Amino acid sequence: MEKHLQHPVFKILADIATFHNIEAYVIGGYVRDIFLERPSKDIDIVVLGNGIEFAELAGQALKSKVAVFKNFGTAMLKYKELELEFVGARKESYRSDSRKPIVENGTIQDDQLRRDFTINALAISLNKENYGALVDPFNGQIDLQNKLIRTPLNPEVTFSDDPLRILRAIRFASQLNFSIDEAALQAISKQKERISIVSKERVTDELNKIIRSPLPSIGFKYLFNTGLLHLIFPQMAALYGVEIINGKGHKDNFYHTLQVLDNICKVTDDLWLRWAAILHDIAKPPTKRFEDGHGWTFHGHEDKGARMVPQIFAQLKLPLNDKMKYVQKLVQLHLRPIVLAQEVVSDSAVRRLLFDAGEDIESLMMLCNADVTTKNEYKIKKYRNNFELVKQKLKDVEERDKIRNWQPPISGNDIMTIFGLSAGKEVGLIKNAIREAILEGEITNNYDEALAFMMKKADELGLNPSMP
Ligand code: CTP
Repeated sequence: MEKHLQHPVFKILADIATFHNIEAYVIGGYVRDIFLERPSKDIDIVVLGNGIEFAELAGQALKSKVAVFKNFGTAMLKYKELELEFVGARKESYRSDSRKPIVENGTIQDDQLRRDFTINALAISLNKENYGALVDPFNGQIDLQNKLIRTPLNPEVTFSDDPLRILRAIRFASQLNFSIDEAALQAISKQKERISIVSKERVTDELNKIIRSPLPSIGFKYLFNTGLLHLIFPQMAALYGVEIINGKGHKDNFYHTLQVLDNICKVTDDLWLRWAAILHDIAKPPTKRFEDGHGWTFHGHEDKGARMVPQIFAQLKLPLNDKMKYVQKLVQLHLRPIVLAQEVVSDSAVRRLLFDAGEDIESLMMLCNADVTTKNEYKIKKYRNNFELVKQKLKDVEERDKIRNWQPPISGNDIMTIFGLSAGKEVGLIKNAIREAILEGEITNNYDEALAFMMKKADELGLNPSMP
């Protein structure tokens, strides 16, 4: 283990510990990440005694400012690229109605026992007699090898100490592609209601970490199977299931959504594009109908889905800003490239898609590609080929007509000046007519053609230019 404590900061901390005769350990995520070969810059130090006092000593030695969080008994300092957090070993219990711990002094093993998972309870000694030794009383190293999330204590106690850990278990499983130990899983199902005492922001923080993991379906399956998803994000849980009428079923939209999400994660790290994948079919349950002669339909699920986005973002305390608008737009438009890919593609349809998607056309095409989840190889090939055709067409049309950053070639102000109009319905009519003519390909996207077209249109409307 000593070879992992290469950074000079560890020797400095060890010298302080020896000089003041205080036991100190590196603990938690930093140690776990050494084994997982994930470089980390956040180092947690636990000392037997007063963590804040030790931090002050470290601050003097490292010439760094120390931030003290008295209420939590912790202190933090930045040193070069590292962030060090200090805490006294705890033998703590929690009140049932809040996440604030009652702290008592404890041994290193007491402290490890009270941590969330065995893989997060690994410690490395900074003490003279066994510098660099791994302290692993709960077999965290074996759990790392077996890819297992397990609690050091009876899971019922660990989770009831801090219900956020229910989500942390699922988040680590998803990030690391680990399984959750059976007893822990049962405790999660049993205690899931206690997630209600965790703030929405923290819940969403964990949810976003699940979404950012390489295969978020791992986390979402755990969320669904334990019943947590029904509590924290019921609209998504409602996607689950297949209804059958007259022998006709539809696909399970929950598993389809997870597949789309995993697919998109292979091609983008963008959290919001991943959210668009989660939400693209979110309105399928409320728009589902069985039509005689037709089978199952989900008419208008893209419109209703787009309308549901702000409410879901508000409920999950996600930002109600341009990111939300971006997700909303992708949900709204997610069927359009598929429709194009099924038909003979007309230039005007491509221009309209470019106009509506604007800058987000590439994201939309990625979402649509990810949305192809059929197992039928023939269909996959057909869709993918057609998407390539649509993409080529998008490129050609864009090169020619420059639609994606659409600016009307004649502005509302121009129209008002030319015809001596004040702002009103007629200005809008003319502007729309010009836009439609360009999108339909009657005229190209430039001032002269737009002007000539406008004059003709104005004539039909009985308007006369007031300028020569
Ligand atoms: N911890 C805990 N219970 C919690 C949160 C944290 O026992 N609810 C302990 C774990 O030992 C954890 C350490 O505190 O390893 C540091 O927590 P944190 O920084 O939140 O997580 P990391 O494990 O470092 O992982 P990540 O940075 O991926 O969140």
